[in-house]
Amino acid sequence: VVRTTPYTTLPTILLVGPSGAGKTSLLTLVERGDKTVPTHTSQTPQPVELTVSAGGAVQSFRETAKEDAPGMHKKFLLMDTPGHGKLRKFAMDRVNTQDSLKGIMFVLDAAALDENLPATGSYLYDVLLALQKRMGAGKTSRGPSSIHVLIAANKSDLFTALPVSLVKSNLEAELGRIRKSKSKGLLDSGVGADDVGNEESDNWLGTYGAEKFSFSQMREFDLEVDIVGGSVLEGKVDKWWKWISARV
Ligand code: GTP
Ligand code: MG
Repeated sequence: VVRTTPYTTLPTILLVGPSGAGKTSLLTLVERGDKTVPTHTSQTPQPVELTVSAGGAVQSFRETAKEDAPGMHKKFLLMDTPGHGKLRKFAMDRVNTQDSLKGIMFVLDAAALDENLPATGSYLYDVLLALQKRMGAGKTSRGPSSIHVLIAANKSDLFTALPVSLVKSNLEAELGRIRKSKSKGLLDSGVGADDVGNEESDNWLGTYGAEKFSFSQMREFDLEVDIVGGSVLEGKVDKWWKWISARV
């Protein structure tokens, strides 16, 4: 039985990513097994309680999500968030502080990445930097042991969809560009040289001083970033579901 619950103590997988990427469509698919339900742009976070079978059998999420056999299944929350630029606080608050957070799915539209690269990149940059800071803080106090990030390159059904390898290289290049421009901003801001040293390394995404950005640099902060393609429209989400079931 699938139902929404008000509490957030269950292991939580957070759905983030720009508006129109397909987050709510994905939630609707795994909740109801229906990929034809129209969605509206989201304005509030929406948690849905789901189950994954204890043995890790993930072959049919439609069944595992609908069965109700206590003890056989692990419950977790899949938390949808609004992607609109003005409503990202809902997602970022959870990225920053939610205790039960086990993983973050960053959903993007692989068929519109050419046009959306700056917006998609800057949101991804914010999410990864927030996680990096959170993990860094965890080294001195009680913090999460590791948080995995799955970049879900959605809409592979469309002919304009970029292959995963290109999604990855485009995002890495964009994050590298953002990193460079932010660090220059700090240097130009007129704060003292010593302050720049600390502030700059704290706000530098990935390996400090590295010329190019790559997702593998996030391992320094116990952050594992994977990119996997799929299509909510075609129901091709099994690899994402598998990733989720390994996290919760
Ligand atoms: P916000 O709520 O604004 O953050 O957007 P969202 O990420 O929740 O996007 P939503 O799920 O509402 O989907 C946006 C549009 O993309 C809808 O028209 C969906 O039908 C469509 N869509 C979602 N997944 C796919 C897919 O795999 N392929 C195609 N072709 N369209 C999709
Ligand atoms: Mg939505």
